[in-house]
Amino acid sequence: MHEAHHDRIRHPLLRERVTSAAAAAALIEDGMTIGMSGFTRAGDAKAVPLALAERARLDPLKITLMTGASLGSDVDKVLTEAGVLARRMPFQSDPTLRAAINRGDVMFIDQHLSETVELLRSGQIAPIDIAIIEAIAITDSGAIIPTTSVGNSASFAILADKVIVEINLAQSLALEGLHDIFIPKHRPHREPIPLMSPSDRIGTTAIMIPPEKIAAIVITEKCDSSSSILPADADTAAIAAHLVAFFEREVARGRLTERLLPIQAGIGTIANAVMSGFIDSPFTHLTMYSEVLQDSTFDLFDAGKLDFASGSSITLSAAKGAQVFGDIERYKDRLVLRPQEVSNHPEVVRRLGIIAINTALEADIYGNVNSTHVGGTHMMNGIGGSGDFARNAYLAVFATKSLAKGGKVSSIVPMVSHVDHNEHDVDIIVTELGLADLRGLAPRERAQVIIDNCVAEPYRQMLRDYVAAATLRGGHTPHVLEEALSWHVRYAATGSMLPASAASAASAASAA
Ligand code: COA
Repeated sequence: MHEAHHDRIRHPLLRERVTSAAAAAALIEDGMTIGMSGFTRAGDAKAVPLALAERARLDPLKITLMTGASLGSDVDKVLTEAGVLARRMPFQSDPTLRAAINRGDVMFIDQHLSETVELLRSGQIAPIDIAIIEAIAITDSGAIIPTTSVGNSASFAILADKVIVEINLAQSLALEGLHDIFIPKHRPHREPIPLMSPSDRIGTTAIMIPPEKIAAIVITEKCDSSSSILPADADTAAIAAHLVAFFEREVARGRLTERLLPIQAGIGTIANAVMSGFIDSPFTHLTMYSEVLQDSTFDLFDAGKLDFASGSSITLSAAKGAQVFGDIERYKDRLVLRPQEVSNHPEVVRRLGIIAINTALEADIYGNVNSTHVGGTHMMNGIGGSGDFARNAYLAVFATKSLAKGGKVSSIVPMVSHVDHNEHDVDIIVTELGLADLRGLAPRERAQVIIDNCVAEPYRQMLRDYVAAATLRGGHTPHVLEEALSWHVRYAATGSMLPASAASAASAASAA
């Protein structure tokens, strides 16, 4: 069996470490901190965590689990159901885990994605006992070549006491050379990150660790879970059109060229649709400096619009994945995957002048954005990389549909119920109705621009009334504090942000 994998395990002595997922999982002890590969369903360890869950059914244990970002293959679901997760960071998007977090059963630390390994490296959080890293191969010197994501894998492997490698035969060896592993030095010897353009390569193509740290190797053969993005709809297409028109105006004013600046786009349907909107735009020779590369990245390559894309993972729909990974050589010289610490690094984001396009759950009339907490209390997914990019971007854009839950929720509210991105970091809010350019505006001006451009009726009139009442009370950022969260309170109590009178008028109108 080992003979067949010489191209995958090139270090001869390490071939002796091939074992079963169950035997590798047996290395994990109760109370350990485990660092696992995986970033937005790409490149995650797929066998050992499931074997750990299996073991936990007979032999209960709890771990702290760190990853790059969200996982596929139902790993978070299965580990949650097996009661294995005591603590989880820095991001997740699994419904079962989400429910456990919101019950208070799992302690979730919602972290800027660039920061996790900084905290680990400097000993500010509990150290990693075991890293579990998916790889296409181990080199003859024992270095680990990751698969479809880098995420936090490199620092997890470097900082862990022991490393388990999952060699995934379903991931093509043609991915070799795609990765660029750069690890910042410990302070006080830290130096600038020497990255001047999205296409710069500044590191190694594999994760360099002493081979003796590799305690077990497990052979797997399972594809990444495909992304669950939905096709563009009328609203997401309208959001994209507003943004394209905005960038055209910026070019006409001489603020940007038609190459724009490197673009970061968040995960999900809206961000993917916005990027797809650039296909039919006048912009050319675009570049991306992002964390997740979705279907739209490859559509833009194929349309001849995109010159280069830097990310930390590639997460594609099933159809796009089959096409791209079946023909990766066609794209490889225009792609690089980096540690998320580098892809999301504030220093680089500010230097390159990133256009950051992320998604809001809700925004308020002054431009504060909530991306994480439904109703102010219940975790959705996490802040992910949106804060890394938004605070340091050349331009921070937040997109959302103006309505949620069939119109029972307005995505623009008097005051957000939780703040992820504050008014100081947010430049543009865009919904399907229009775009609010907040740059250079004071709070009272921001409220007017947001309400005029981004809000659906009858909420638009309700916000105008709110602002009129708030303005009577004065202040730099006027509020009627006792009413500021009343829309959320009403939604929790009645299932709609609309007052009873407006709700019955709306249902009469829709019946007619
Ligand atoms: N109040 C309550 N629920 C709301 C809401 C609001 N204001 N706005 C949206 N929702 C609900 C939707 O109804 C939907 O619920 P469902 O799953 O039950 O249908 C869910 O939130 C997702 O909303 P959707 O409109 O489908 O948007 P999305 O899939 O693009 O996700 C975020 C939006 C904000 C949840 C998502 O982008 C996210 O997690 N962002 C934070 C992380 C991030 O920005 N990373 C970027 C770097 S990768």
